[in-house]
Amino acid sequence: QSPENGKVSWQSPSNIALVKYWGKYGEQLPKNASISFTLSNCHTKTNVSFQKKESEGFDFEVYLDGKREKGFEPKIQKFFERVEAYVPFLKNYQFKIETSNSFPHSSGIASSASGMSALACCLMEIEKSLGDFEIPEDFFSKKASFLARLGSGSACRSIEGPLVVWGEHPQIGKATNLYGVPYPYTVHKNFENYQDTILLVDKGEKQVSSTVGHNLMHNHPFAEQRFEQANENLSKLIPVLKSGNLSEFISIVESEALSLHAMMLTSHPYFILMKPNTLEIINRIWDFRKETGSKVCFTLDAGANVHVLFPEAEKVLVSEFIKTQLTQFCKNGEFIEDSVGFGAQ
Ligand code: PMV
Repeated sequence: QSPENGKVSWQSPSNIALVKYWGKYGEQLPKNASISFTLSNCHTKTNVSFQKKESEGFDFEVYLDGKREKGFEPKIQKFFERVEAYVPFLKNYQFKIETSNSFPHSSGIASSASGMSALACCLMEIEKSLGDFEIPEDFFSKKASFLARLGSGSACRSIEGPLVVWGEHPQIGKATNLYGVPYPYTVHKNFENYQDTILLVDKGEKQVSSTVGHNLMHNHPFAEQRFEQANENLSKLIPVLKSGNLSEFISIVESEALSLHAMMLTSHPYFILMKPNTLEIINRIWDFRKETGSKVCFTLDAGANVHVLFPEAEKVLVSEFIKTQLTQFCKNGEFIEDSVGFGAQ
């Protein structure tokens, strides 16, 4: 007998792509393979309470930090419509979704990866509690990732850690367009507990949503070359992750960030998400590397904020550099210190 009601809770992190996903087809399927570090401190906590109901249709309310957030509801409605075929119990229950982020709401950090993956895990937990059969752990994470993907593509890379691949790739047999899988090869200890300090350059709403951005890849003059380049960059990263060659790592990761933004600069309509301070920070990082031999580098998401990546061994050196030279370019001096983590819990 399925329970009439209950409550489940999950916490899920954000992730930062090393090889970027930009361009999709069909039901949120990626045009190229991508790989990301799962983060740790930037996460969303979600509680879902459910109560059996008789009426037809979806019935849910969303609360952010304890306050009803109607602005989120169209996005959740769309998510429910997309996933209903895979979690058919959705229409038989009324849901109260309570969510909160560890990072400031208007920080310009996308909460969609952590938020959608936390919600997907909650739905899987409910599915588990409703069924009278065991769900193997491996199946749980795959299906949670599959559902998260339908909420926000990159969210499928937030269920596990520390490195997750999403999208078919000739050298990674288990990789699929349907969900993220743990990176299957050896990773050098240089990448253990890798640090990511996120510099909050611009905290406003993005001028161009990632949905619009992905769609602009459809008639993009460089689309095919870009998808090929991303797959090649993932191929190049495999031996680099194994050997721990940080110079090679930097050249792949920084080039990926700039290529992502190059797609935005060359689409129609074209747009620029970087701000002058984004470029200031990039130049300071390059100067600092030249002066000190440090292996600090940057990557970017679809926004102006800069993710400063560095090995744990350089924590003291780079933290000092960030505080003395880079935080002056952040809005109100704000930044978030994060590091690689292990996924949803
Ligand atoms: O998950 P979406 O649809 O918001 O796409 C985000 C894509 C990037 O963050 C720009 C890159 C990536 O691979 O995470």
